[in-house]
This record gives sequence, structure tokens and C-alpha cells, in this order.
Amino acid sequence: ETLVRKKTFSDQLNMYVVFVGLPVYIDGTISGVILLFSPLNQVNKTLFDVYKIIWITAAVSLALASVVTFIISRRISKPIEHIQKVAASLAEGNFAGDLAPVGRDEIARLTETFNYMKNRLWQIEEMRKDFIANVSHELRTPLTSIRGFIQGILDRVIGPEEQEKYLRRAYEETGRLNRLVNDLLQLARLQSGNVKLNREIVQVGELIGEIVEEHRLLAEQRNISLHVEISGDNTTIVADRDKLKQIILNLLNNALKYSNEGGKVWINALKEDKKLIFKIKDNGPGIPEDELQYIFTKFHRVESSSGQQAPGTGLGLSIAKELVELHGGTIMARSAVGCGTEMIFALPGDGK
Ligand SMILES: Nc1ncnc2c1ncn2[C@@H]1O[C@H](COP(=O)(O)OP(=O)(O)OP(=O)(O)O)[C@@H](O)[C@H]1O
Ligand SMILES: [Mg+2]
Repeated sequence: ETLVRKKTFSDQLNMYVVFVGLPVYIDGTISGVILLFSPLNQVNKTLFDVYKIIWITAAVSLALASVVTFIISRRISKPIEHIQKVAASLAEGNFAGDLAPVGRDEIARLTETFNYMKNRLWQIEEMRKDFIANVSHELRTPLTSIRGFIQGILDRVIGPEEQEKYLRRAYEETGRLNRLVNDLLQLARLQSGNVKLNREIVQVGELIGEIVEEHRLLAEQRNISLHVEISGDNTTIVADRDKLKQIILNLLNNALKYSNEGGKVWINALKEDKKLIFKIKDNGPGIPEDELQYIFTKFHRVESSSGQQAPGTGLGLSIAKELVELHGGTIMARSAVGCGTEMIFALPGDGK
């Protein structure tokens, strides 16, 4: 309890002072008063010191907070700025170098994902370029021959007695062109995912019999013996008949085409755990191990060791693979150089 608290000018001390009056009680009644004087500048100085400490602490904290914020924001914004720059140059078709990973946080994961995306884009871009180069090459070769034959006939460089031979060759070349264009269109349609299956119950034995019948002449010409084995007389599968036929045809065509004269080709179909497994095997020249992984890639053809390559465009197996996968099945190749090749594909037995 204070009786008085005041700021006043003391003439004796010639300065401002604060004084406080405190009562002195004796037996419950005020018996006197204690007056305490303190020069105001002393108090002011203490207050000033306190304020100074508060302000300095605030200023230092603010400065520290700003520095920390700046460092953190730089750590976040710098890599993002970098990613943004690389993304912009990516849009211009520049796929150079991966981004260096920074830290272990979200930014690092973003960088990793960005690199992954960039590399996938690069692969797709390379495939696109390869595809265009291959297609133009494959189209140009027969076109150039056809043009040459016709020009030879028109310019009379090819005499009348030889004209039929060259016209026939031009006709064969148009057949090749036709097959190529059809294969390309089919592959493009399959890869766009717009092809629907016409499922029906297919008698496997009957289908393979039909295919073998159609190829008997070709096999006989090359003196290749065809062996068919089907487990169960009445094996059926729910599948798209035309597409299943094409898968087997593409594989059988290869077996006959790449086999040596006098070789053997086997076609097997067997049921195994609700699956139907087809095997087309030959005892031809085989495929080198390091090539096996590429043969399902479009336009990929294995260089023949003899230098004499059978005609083809390298689309047959890509189409077969797409068709097998459209049925929910899988396809693989087993081969040994000098021993032969076995193409195996499995389709779900219930056709689902
Ligand atoms: N049975 C086989 N024996 C040896 N090599 C094979 C066999 N099957 C495929 N190959 C190799 O795999 C490559 C790719 O086969 P694919 O059927 O895709 O194309 P292609 O036969 O060259 O041409 P296309 O089938 O389009 O007329 C072939 O060029 C060949 O080198
Ligand atoms: Mg082929």
C-alpha cells in the first residue's frame, strides 16, 4: 500500500525525482510515513537499459529469422528454379544430363521423378525417330525398285523379252509394300489400344489343321517337315479366332522362313493349369542370346551370319506379342545358336 507516488522536481537536488510514501502502522493506526526518493534519471537509465536489451534481442532475432528464412527459401527455390530451366530446355528437345540429386527431402524425390520422366521421354523420342527412319527406309526400298523397273521399261533399257520378268518383280514389290503398310497400320491400331477382341469358342485342333494345310506347300518347297501335337482331341479356347490364327501364322512363318532346307518344325498346343500353351519350334539356325531380348521390338531383325537374310520387315513378332497381350497372355522365346528356336505363348484358358 502506497500513500503517494509522484514525479516531481526537487529544488534541493536540482533534478527530477520520483518519491513514494509508505505508511508506518503501529497498533493498526498510521503513526508515520516513510518517504523514498529516487532520482528520475537513475530510473530512466534502468528503464532505458531494459528497453535497449529488449530492442537488441528483437533486432537480433529478426535478423537471425530473416537469414534462416532466406537460406531455407534459397534451398527450396534454387533447385526448383533449376528444374524449371531444365524443363524449359527439355521442351525444346534438349535431353542432356540428369539433374544432380539434392538433399533427402521432397525436393530430392522431385528431382528423381523429374530425371525418370526426362529419360522416359528421351526413350520415346528415340523410338519415334527410329520408327520414322525405319518406316521411310522400308517404304523407300521397294518404291525405288518399282520406279527403276518401270523407268527401265519406258526408256527401253529393258528389252521387250525381259519386260515380263521385271514387271513381275515390280508386282512382287507392290505386294511387299502392301504387307508392310498393313502391318504398320495393324501395329499402330494395336498400340493405340483401340482394338477389340471378337471372342468365340475356337477348336484348337481344327484351327492348327487349317494353318498347316495353308503352309504345306511352302514347307514342301523347302523340304521342311511339319509336326503337330495337340493334347486332347477336343481342346477349345475362348479367343478371337482370326487374331489367334495370326499369332500362330507369324510364328510359323518365321520357323519356316529361317529354317534350313530339310529342317523340322513342331507345333504343340497343350492345356496346363487353366492355360493353353502353344509352342512353335524349329531346328533352324537359332538366335544369339544377346539378341533374344530385342526380337519383339518392331523393326528389329537379327543380322544373318551367312549374310543372306530372308525377306521381312521385323514387324511379325511385335504384332504377335501385341495380339497375345490383348488376350491377356504372355509370349517368350527360347533359342540356341545352331540348335533352333522355340516360341512359346500362353493364353488364359477361359478367355478372360
Ligand atoms: N524361328 C526363328 N529362327 C531364327 N530367327 C528368328 C526366328 N524367328 C524370328 N527370328 C529373328 O527375329 C527377327 C524378328 O522377327 P519378326 O517376325 O518380328 O520379323 P521378320 O520375320 O524379320 O519380318 P516380318 O515378320 O515382319 O516379315 C527376325 O528378323 C529374325 O532375325
Ligand atoms: Mg516374321
